Amino acid sequence: MTDIAEPRPAAARRSEGLKGTVRVPGDKSISHRSLMFGAIASGETRITGLLEGEDVMRTGAAMTAMGAGILKRDGEWIVRGVGNGCLLQPEKPLDFGNAGTGARLTMGLVGAYDMETAFVGDASLSGRPMGRVLEPLRQMGVQVLSAAPGDRMPITLRGPRHAAPITYRVPMASAQVKSAVLLAGLNAPGITTVIEPVPTRDHTEKMLKGFGANLSVEIDEQGVRHIFIEGQGKLSGQTIAVPGDPSSASFPLIAALIVPGSDITIENVLMNPTRTGLILTLQEMGGDIEIVKPRKAGGEDVADLRVRSSDLKGISVPAARAPSMIDEYPVLAVAAAFAEGETMMQGLEELRVKESDRLAAVARGLEANGVDCTEGEASLAVRGRPGGRGLGGGLIQTHLDHRIAMSFLVMGLAAEGPVTIDDRAMIATSFPEFMGLMTGLGARIEDVAPAA
Ligand code: S3P
Repeated sequence: MTDIAEPRPAAARRSEGLKGTVRVPGDKSISHRSLMFGAIASGETRITGLLEGEDVMRTGAAMTAMGAGILKRDGEWIVRGVGNGCLLQPEKPLDFGNAGTGARLTMGLVGAYDMETAFVGDASLSGRPMGRVLEPLRQMGVQVLSAAPGDRMPITLRGPRHAAPITYRVPMASAQVKSAVLLAGLNAPGITTVIEPVPTRDHTEKMLKGFGANLSVEIDEQGVRHIFIEGQGKLSGQTIAVPGDPSSASFPLIAALIVPGSDITIENVLMNPTRTGLILTLQEMGGDIEIVKPRKAGGEDVADLRVRSSDLKGISVPAARAPSMIDEYPVLAVAAAFAEGETMMQGLEELRVKESDRLAAVARGLEANGVDCTEGEASLAVRGRPGGRGLGGGLIQTHLDHRIAMSFLVMGLAAEGPVTIDDRAMIATSFPEFMGLMTGLGARIEDVAPAA
């Protein structure tokens, strides 16, 4: 199990205009997948721009524990893959810390192997539902040897001699579940089909194709995606340049929108259309976000974003947009707290099962800082106060959730009173450079002494 470290409280205060040009770390989704696919490819995979956050490092350690070679040389990560189907049974449980993506995708990657694999994680990860991945794996013949009540971790899996290829309709909007089934399909004879009624981030499909998997996507008359993958084929090592993470970029981006007098540029941000819902939403709210030099890099769309402080107005965010900005709702809610009028966010059921119950954590955090909001079953309405008058002064419970921690520190930069978070330690899971990057732009964020 992950060690429980001392909490590290931090506070953010009203700041002068943010200025400067920054790069955020590599995309978390692509980073996890680069290490995993590199581990099961034949030959070497070379990765630049890899996110060196704790979550991704856990995935690297898991791949190493199953036989892949991973090292960093001259700023580049090199993965020596074992070949598809050739990972080895780990000697110890694989510890994924706080990382849902690492845990769920690896369950798919090796759950269907004819070996035993145990998965453990921290208190947040151990509270998250894993049945959504175990259910299709069971259909493929995987035995769940042990699991905590409600199909939670710690979990031990044992794959069959020969996994059965299945056709699986993903019942919720989850790229992790889609990916887990596709990865299990890599190890099953024949064609595994994943039907995805609501499109989610497509990094698994794009990257597996790049590694040489026989994968195709068809869209039916209803607009539903059918993804076909042939198992037991050969994958070959690739060269990957990981673009900047749009989810991490959302923190300096919204900080610049709400702190008056700001003008910043965030370079090399991933602009894959399955990830850009937040930018569209903020532009609809009146945010001054200029997309500079849109270009292709390593098969992905990227651009620089120039962001200037703006008078935001509340809008209704369509529920259908939720999968393309699912990790950005906490910080969008912070932007909404500074907008004129009401911002209505719907289709948020998946926020209940993230690193924390993000819908409740955001609503409680907003309330603690004087923001008028209404939490529904799967919705959040925020009534903003332009200029942040009377907002702030709250202490936020982050519930081991990096995005709750960063979102409320951003809030403190524009609120009248300071905003304090109970623990910033989890920020290192996805954005270890956050404090330095933000203070470099002029943000007033600092550590504070833990409460006695
Ligand atoms: C991710 C998928 C999303 C997202 C997570 C990363 C991925 O999770 O919230 O941060 O890399 O596939 P869900 O699949 O649970 O929506």
